[in-house]
Amino acid sequence: MICVVEAVKGGVGKSTTALYLSEALARHGRRVLAVDADPQGTLLEWEAAAADAGDPLRVAVEGLPSAVMVRRRLTGLAASYDMTVVDCPNRDVAVIEAALECADEAIVPVPPGVEELRRARAGFALAKRAGVPCRALLTLVDIRMSLPQELLEVLDAEGVPRFRSLVRRRAAIASTVGAARPRELHDYAHVAAELENLEVTLAP
Ligand SMILES: Nc1ncnc2c1ncn2[C@@H]1O[C@H](COP(=O)(O)OP(=O)(O)OP(=O)(O)O)[C@@H](O)[C@H]1O
Ligand SMILES: [Mg+2]
Repeated sequence: MICVVEAVKGGVGKSTTALYLSEALARHGRRVLAVDADPQGTLLEWEAAAADAGDPLRVAVEGLPSAVMVRRRLTGLAASYDMTVVDCPNRDVAVIEAALECADEAIVPVPPGVEELRRARAGFALAKRAGVPCRALLTLVDIRMSLPQELLEVLDAEGVPRFRSLVRRRAAIASTVGAARPRELHDYAHVAAELENLEVTLAP
């Protein structure tokens, strides 16, 4: 199975979601590959930093930093794993389209906000055009604010499938991004469970 994390907007939590989800799925016993399709190399740098810190990632990371590379190699690489999670670049629509051609499922991270939702629609549209089932995932949700109820209602009214779990903004997540293996999975434990329809005991 190939799951593509995509959005046409930068800084919405694509790389964070791709890596945390990969690590969470690996903890469920899956053989997981994380594919870095972003020439920025966020996941490759994250993998190197974790290894240098003496606590390597539990998932394999491969770089496919162009549409041509994705078309050539993604399906072949994914064949050796139970689950492949692809982190896409935000500007290069050609790479996103190439990844979606091979995808079984797409995730579009959406931070709460009207403008963020407007931009997320481009991500939903790309998946729809490729015929790939797509789910919105609310990311960077401020714990001090009330739930972004309005945004959830708009998504539901527009018929955009979404994860029930939200990903809250946490300093502990920000400090691991690009730097260290996520030991604590935070809200991503629930997102991974939803992705796999697994039952988990909710942490208090
Ligand atoms: N749940 C979270 N809590 C705290 N910080 C977060 C969370 N998710 C993402 N971040 C931070 O937000 C920033 C953007 O996240 P990330 O790099 O995952 O976004 P992106 O969509 O991949 O960006 P780009 O388009 O540049 O690739 C990073 O600095 C990351 O550390
Ligand atoms: Mg990124």
